[in-house]
Amino acid sequence: MERVFLGALRADTPGGDDAEGTLGALLEEPADAYGVSHHLCERGERWQLREFAAHRSAYHLKEADPHAWVIPRLRGRAKASLVAVEFDEFGGGRAEAVHAVLFAGLMDDLGLDSRYGRYLDLVPAPMLAIVSMMSLFGLHRGLRGAMVGHFAAAEITTAPAARRMARAARRLGAGPRCVRFYTEHIEADAVHEQVLRHEVVGDLLAREPELAADVAFGAQATGLLEDRFGEHVLACWRAGRSSLRRPLPSSPTPRCHRAERCHAAGRCHGIDVTGPMSRDCCHGADVAGLMSQGWCHRAGITRPTRCQNRFRAGRGSCGTGGGWCRRTGSGRWLRRRTTRP
Ligand SMILES: [Fe+2]
Repeated sequence: MERVFLGALRADTPGGDDAEGTLGALLEEPADAYGVSHHLCERGERWQLREFAAHRSAYHLKEADPHAWVIPRLRGRAKASLVAVEFDEFGGGRAEAVHAVLFAGLMDDLGLDSRYGRYLDLVPAPMLAIVSMMSLFGLHRGLRGAMVGHFAAAEITTAPAARRMARAARRLGAGPRCVRFYTEHIEADAVHEQVLRHEVVGDLLAREPELAADVAFGAQATGLLEDRFGEHVLACWRAGRSSLRRPLPSSPTPRCHRAERCHAAGRCHGIDVTGPMSRDCCHGADVAGLMSQGWCHRAGITRPTRCQNRFRAGRGSCGTGGGWCRRTGSGRWLRRRTTRP
């Protein structure tokens, strides 16, 4: 598995041995950059912030642990400087300031379960690939250059994203611990970036210049997987659906993401379809199937409800295309004639 994964990462990255140039290119964001942090900062919704936290919990609840594996594989200034960064990540001697603990507080503020692995089954491959990459780089001495390149790339790109996320957390009223996790990373990672680039990468390549290609590879692989993750999340949200494998159990429901299709098929009822729906209603791909079985997904009906009036569509109460369950007035009539599946 590791060989296949590593081979795919190498195949999809440009390669080369210009470690300094690769990391230097990350220092300035392209003017047209638009990622998850931009979205959440500008127009994201609270349920999207919660989803993002669930994704990232696969890493942040063990933040900096995979990078510790590289410590015994380094020497001299590179080792001392990387340990200094890790010391900050692990709270600088204060248990309450361990970054993984700060992230657990963020999750608590968002009403999420902060136990490690709680959302692992919900996290899709693009996020798991990022965490797997860290473990892969950390567990192999031969990939120590890649781990250092990954670490440097992550620290360079974190501060601007953290600034936007802090704004997003404030705008969405996410709570002080949520804001703190990100504000902590604005300053800390700006310092870490300097230490990683000059002290760790600089010293490592002075000692072992043959690792330059691996350092560049680690940084490129990080960009590749982070970009894929961001594209996945934004594509799902643009379509109005969860970016997790299943929506969070207690999450307000994503909007109906198949509204056009539903309407085209004559199955949606219009009024509330494009607004927040209850979790079990109107989940895109399932809508057609549910409706064909006679399920109603009207906004006023908060659970999948089987219409018992399937033979009465002609009377005008269930008349959306297929003839199922379309009430136009109050839900009373429908509820009297429905049963739960
Ligand atoms: Fe951190």
